[in-house]
Amino acid sequence: MRNHTTFRQLEIFEAIARLSSFTRASEELFLTQPTVSMQMKKLTETVGVALIEQVGKKIHLTPDGQQLALATREIFGILDRYTMSVAERQGLKQGQLRLMAITTASYFAPRLLGEFARLYPGIDVSLRVTNKEQVLASIADNLDDLYFLGQPPDDIDVVATPIMDNPIEVLAAPDHPLAHKKNLTLERLAQEPWLMREKGSGTRNAIERRFAEHGITIRPRMELGSNEAIKQAILAGLGISAVSRHALTLNQPGQFAVLDVQGFPILRHWYAVYPAGRQLSVVARAFLDYLLGSHDTTPAEPGSMK
Ligand code: PGA
Repeated sequence: MRNHTTFRQLEIFEAIARLSSFTRASEELFLTQPTVSMQMKKLTETVGVALIEQVGKKIHLTPDGQQLALATREIFGILDRYTMSVAERQGLKQGQLRLMAITTASYFAPRLLGEFARLYPGIDVSLRVTNKEQVLASIADNLDDLYFLGQPPDDIDVVATPIMDNPIEVLAAPDHPLAHKKNLTLERLAQEPWLMREKGSGTRNAIERRFAEHGITIRPRMELGSNEAIKQAILAGLGISAVSRHALTLNQPGQFAVLDVQGFPILRHWYAVYPAGRQLSVVARAFLDYLLGSHDTTPAEPGSMK
């Protein structure tokens, strides 16, 4: 059968099987009726059994015809998938990927982007790291392909995909009196001097919410505008704070004590976000698939003194 059957014949047969009509099949394929009939005759001769029965004006597939219809659809499905994957790879040979990340995401976003850029060297990648306000403004203006955030916006219609865990841990200097204590309560922790990120920081909101759930308000001793400044202040013995475990990736194990506190770590996620109306480019879709498929989603435990 393979030597004599043409794709054209299979295509004609599939259309007749689907539409139950020679006339409509010929219209769909822009062929004349005699051509369709002749090709069907040749196909039937090659296969050697009847594929179609005509009862009055109605067309029916014989059981052998039904089997061939299934096989034909499978073959076409495989070919369609192949054609699509070639087109995608062509699309990934060049193109642009514009990302924007909230500051704390800068601890992992460049690494992921670097790995992706090595896989697809023809793609021109850019990453802007900025504060939440500007990220939200850019989402609203639909400027970039994807955004990394710790909390999807409530007031903009977006598609948000969790891509990674984002645990928030309480840190103190290694020689802090609470460093080796077990199961500390939030009440006890609230008595410590707290170092807090600026207002509007997702980390700060998460910490304040966790305390507020227990009716506790913490008054920051100091407000600092970045995770690095918070970490320096902790090491200088100015107080304690809580940061994303991702913010510890560049630190030596044991450089900080991770306190054992009820209700911590706070389990959050990182999200890749894009405006709901946006059609993702082939490149952006490939990057999102890459984020979902190819890396460990839990940051390594820091060298802790728990
Ligand atoms: P941030 O981090 O604290 O830098 O705003 C983002 C987030 O965790 O939501």
